Amino acid sequence: MNILVTGGAGFIGSNFVRWWARERPRDTVVAYDLLTYAGNRESLVGVPHEFVQGDIGDIDVAMNAMREYEIDTIVNFAAESHNSYAITNPGVFFQTNVVGTQRLCEAVRRIGVDKFHRFHHVSTCEVYGDLDLDATEPFNESSPYAPRTPYNASKAGGDHAVRAYSETFGLPISITNCANNYGPFQFPEKVIPLFATRAIDDLDIPLYASTQNRREWIHADDHCRAIAMILDNGRVGETYHVGTGEERSIEEIADAVLAALGKPASLKKIVPDRPGHDRRYLLDHSKIKAELGWEPLVGFKDGLGETVQWYEANREWWEPLKERAPVDETAAWK
Ligand SMILES: NC(=O)c1ccc[n+]([C@@H]2O[C@H](COP(=O)([O-])OP(=O)(O)OC[C@H]3O[C@@H](n4cnc5c(N)ncnc54)[C@H](O)[C@@H]3O)[C@@H](O)[C@H]2O)c1
Repeated sequence: MNILVTGGAGFIGSNFVRWWARERPRDTVVAYDLLTYAGNRESLVGVPHEFVQGDIGDIDVAMNAMREYEIDTIVNFAAESHNSYAITNPGVFFQTNVVGTQRLCEAVRRIGVDKFHRFHHVSTCEVYGDLDLDATEPFNESSPYAPRTPYNASKAGGDHAVRAYSETFGLPISITNCANNYGPFQFPEKVIPLFATRAIDDLDIPLYASTQNRREWIHADDHCRAIAMILDNGRVGETYHVGTGEERSIEEIADAVLAALGKPASLKKIVPDRPGHDRRYLLDHSKIKAELGWEPLVGFKDGLGETVQWYEANREWWEPLKERAPVDETAAWK
């Protein structure tokens, strides 16, 4: 397999490149990344791979990369991904996540859809909007899209573009909607590394006022393995949910990070909610379990502990990134 991993220098993309290079060393893996503030080649040091710096929205550069490496499989992780940044700069989200995704599909169409085994698009639980905290039914693959934020809406738009290219032009697609990921190499703007890196330095950690809002958590390795199984045996044209059922409130996350680091609860600081803050997402992942036998392997307690330790041990990776973050998560309470 010759696989193009867009967003391959980002959090999940770099974990995927590392996973693929380790598990399928005979394949050619090409990381294709624009290297925005969130992209970091340091995340791929020591991992055998090819690298192309490019925008998914640049059809010529994307086609050249696909031709040069005789790409037969694409996994599209490239996106603007941070909800807080989407509030200050929504346009770039629609540009990359909708128009960029469409143009990447167009590059494939121009080369010829029959030359591709699969175009796998990575989406999120957030396209469905949010659930009541006491809802009993999770989202399933037939739930209606009802995004509430610019990030969610732009991801939803990208999903529609991918499905349109499948129905209209025969692009051999699959899509995953995944729960919240955690693990090593996640940019320190996101909640778990934000809490961990601040607590390591004995700084306050900011909890949005709706401290009981919940998220479902998955280790990035489990997500990567799910995508590999879908590329191997998933049905073309299908959407699969990738979740764990491991829900935690924001307060529970803060407590778990502090406990893992042996830091006091007094570091928790309540800050105003961000606008449009979703209450809860939860995915029904019975389809991928029944069809492909996928199940998460990393338990949340162990995975979180290892992740927090990784941030303790890798200051030189995350410290320079702090000043690249486009949003100061603590600005509201300075
Ligand atoms: N992190 C999560 O919890 C989560 C959950 C479900 C789905 N997802 C999806 O998974 C994907 C990866 O998320 P992540 O957390 O790794 O994000 P990330 O922000 O860490 O990485 C995104 C990468 O995409 C690159 N990029 C941005 N715009 C680009 C463009 N126009 N062309 C090429 N590259 C570009 C960036 O440089 C960066 O390396 C995204 O599509 C996201 O929506 C993430």
